[in-house]
Amino acid sequence: MSKKFASRVEQIEISGIRKAFETSSGEFFNLGLGEPDFDTPEHIKVAAMQAIDSGFTSYTPNKGIEELREVISAKFTRDNNFSVSPEEIIVTSGASEALHIAILSVVERGDEVLMPNPGFVSFAALTKLAEGKPVGVPLSEDFTMPIEAVKEKITNKTKALILNSPANPTGTVESEGNIKALVDLAIDHQLTIISDEVYEHLIYNGLKHVSPARFYDGVITVNAVSKTYAMTGFRLGYLAAPAEYVEQMLKIHQYIQACASSISQKAALAAITGAQDCVAEMRNEFERRRDFAVTALRDIGMEVRTPQGAFYIFPRVKDEHEFVETLRKRRIIVTPGSTFGSRGKNHVRISYALGFEKLKQAFEIMKEVVK
Ligand SMILES: Cc1ncc(COP(=O)(O)O)c(C=O)c1O
Repeated sequence: MSKKFASRVEQIEISGIRKAFETSSGEFFNLGLGEPDFDTPEHIKVAAMQAIDSGFTSYTPNKGIEELREVISAKFTRDNNFSVSPEEIIVTSGASEALHIAILSVVERGDEVLMPNPGFVSFAALTKLAEGKPVGVPLSEDFTMPIEAVKEKITNKTKALILNSPANPTGTVESEGNIKALVDLAIDHQLTIISDEVYEHLIYNGLKHVSPARFYDGVITVNAVSKTYAMTGFRLGYLAAPAEYVEQMLKIHQYIQACASSISQKAALAAITGAQDCVAEMRNEFERRRDFAVTALRDIGMEVRTPQGAFYIFPRVKDEHEFVETLRKRRIIVTPGSTFGSRGKNHVRISYALGFEKLKQAFEIMKEVVK
């Protein structure tokens, strides 16, 4: 008898991050999650409510409403220094769907996909769902992606390279020089780059985010309003790519999603066109917490690099599972590093997307535990 479920689902596991989320409650200090703790800014909520009130609650064009694709196109010129027409944009249900259709459209059975190790959990899982083979590129000591390590992993089956700067789980920001070198390598080997830029505005120390699409047209740029505007529950992302890619991805999007939520599209329109002070305010608060958390960890003798983006710290620990369990007994949730790949072993991911006071309390408890 044939088995009930397809191997493609049996070979992937429930995300370790979700598991932590679902078993925790309000009594816990949840340093395990990847979403801003801020409330969605008021003008964005108002736009969503107006969409409902005015009856803007039907399907939209598959690619997303034209008005929104126009402002996203302008956003790419404004923030990312490359031009893309509204026709080369698809509005998706979060960056998650954008990653899914990007990978499904380029990866065939047996194709190899290069990705950071440690890296965001969806990269490997979505590659496996597409029947491709995830190939982790071991990141260097400072968690950047070394060109030599990428070269070593390229074979005649390599199809795509996934980049993620600023990165989950390490908070690393790739330099312009390294992005350019990675692009050159991708061009030499005709690889598609899938660039996940969801943390582009959460970047510190005056650093600037660099989009690989500035230098190469074989790039699918994935982004979302989720992290920038504290809108994770709106499930609104988007991607930009040359027309030939968009044509293929649109076919999948049509069948698995039809279109992104009409209400969330109106909210995203308000987010991207509205005043950007809320983004700066949240960014500044994250930077303050990062500084606090890094200092607190060093004070208790932990080995940690200063992350330059996103809202995660990735310190080294002796035994990640013991550390996670001990903290859990004290009601603090952190994520074991190996959730993000073998190179994450004996690290933990600490998210500082938690109010400053709670963060302080959590670090006080952590101090006692580490002692
Ligand atoms: C690197 C990265 N990409 C994509 C996502 C998913 O974004 P969205 O909520 O827009 O689907 C996350 C969420 O944690 C992430 O860390």
